[in-house]
Amino acid sequence: MHGADNNGRAAFFGPSGDTRWNQRRLLAELPGFVHHELDIRDRAAVLELLAELKPHAIVHTAAQPSHDLAAQMPFEDFDTNAVGTMNLLEAARRASPEAPFVHLSTNKVYGDAPNEIPLVELDARWDYARPEDRDGIDESMRIDRSKHSLFGASKVAADVMVQEYGRYFAMPTCCLRGGCLTGPNHSGVELHGFLSYLVKCCVSGTRYTVYGYKGKQVRDNIHSLDVARFADAFIANPRAGEVYNLGGGRENSCSILEAFALAEQVCGKKMSYDYVDRNRVGDHICYISNLTKMKTHYPSFTLSKSLTDIFVEIHRSWLERAGAS
Ligand SMILES: NC(=O)c1ccc[n+]([C@@H]2O[C@H](COP(=O)([O-])OP(=O)(O)OC[C@H]3O[C@@H](n4cnc5c(N)ncnc54)[C@H](O)[C@@H]3O)[C@@H](O)[C@H]2O)c1
Repeated sequence: MHGADNNGRAAFFGPSGDTRWNQRRLLAELPGFVHHELDIRDRAAVLELLAELKPHAIVHTAAQPSHDLAAQMPFEDFDTNAVGTMNLLEAARRASPEAPFVHLSTNKVYGDAPNEIPLVELDARWDYARPEDRDGIDESMRIDRSKHSLFGASKVAADVMVQEYGRYFAMPTCCLRGGCLTGPNHSGVELHGFLSYLVKCCVSGTRYTVYGYKGKQVRDNIHSLDVARFADAFIANPRAGEVYNLGGGRENSCSILEAFALAEQVCGKKMSYDYVDRNRVGDHICYISNLTKMKTHYPSFTLSKSLTDIFVEIHRSWLERAGAS
């Protein structure tokens, strides 16, 4: 198994975004794992590596993942998310066109269009007002004529290109339009990795800042193991040019206020926070992934980790990482 990463997350977010610890963990724990120090923006290097490896399957997760940061570094964002994906797709077509290609897209390809769905305000969360929206947002949601942030727009470019390599070249590609993907190995920072960062704040007594929507904004959360299990299911039985919404669904959804309560319960500490009455640009108010399509295409796939499992594992990991440093 081969992994490619250039620790771009540390360049984007500083030392707290550093992912080298996880690279070392993989090298120590995964027999046969080989790390390649590759910048996916380096077209010649990407073409060369894939020509050498001729992979049987590709899971593309490298990205500049933050909305706010994209506005500060638009070229780095586009070069990583759009051009980097293009480099990988074309390298895959030349080296291994039969290899399933799983691309981690995002629900931000829908921009703020999901905010047009009628909502109701409950005590601790926003929720969908109409019964027909209860299961959340499916893949028929439009991806244009909405505000995305530059990050969302660069991911749209990648998403459409991944679909195109499936449709035009009949390559087995798919886009997984993620809700909140997280787990014990996330290097959560304020600008990205909401639950990981929130639990880190609770563990360390750091004040968390809530931006707008009364802290009732809802996200659905999926454990990284379940993301990997779905990628595995696609690789075993691929289709061409598909898109799937991938998240924790209603079962694993929570608002920020609900996440505070769960974090306090799991960490045994009070959460301290500030509230800023201004939402992040283009931020979703209530986003729950409708998982019907992925479950229909891959009926044996089910989520193996609950929301509580996710909190417990993230909490344990921050304690271990604090102990190791
Ligand atoms: N975490 C989420 O909630 C979430 C939600 C929706 C979609 N996604 C998508 O899932 C994917 C993974 O997200 P994540 O949360 O694990 O992000 P992450 O930042 O933790 O991981 C991305 C990895 O890519 C690496 N990287 C960055 N630039 C690179 C480059 N030029 N060349 C090589 N490697 C580079 C980083 O060092 C990092 O290890 C991304 O595509 C992201 O947009 C994530």
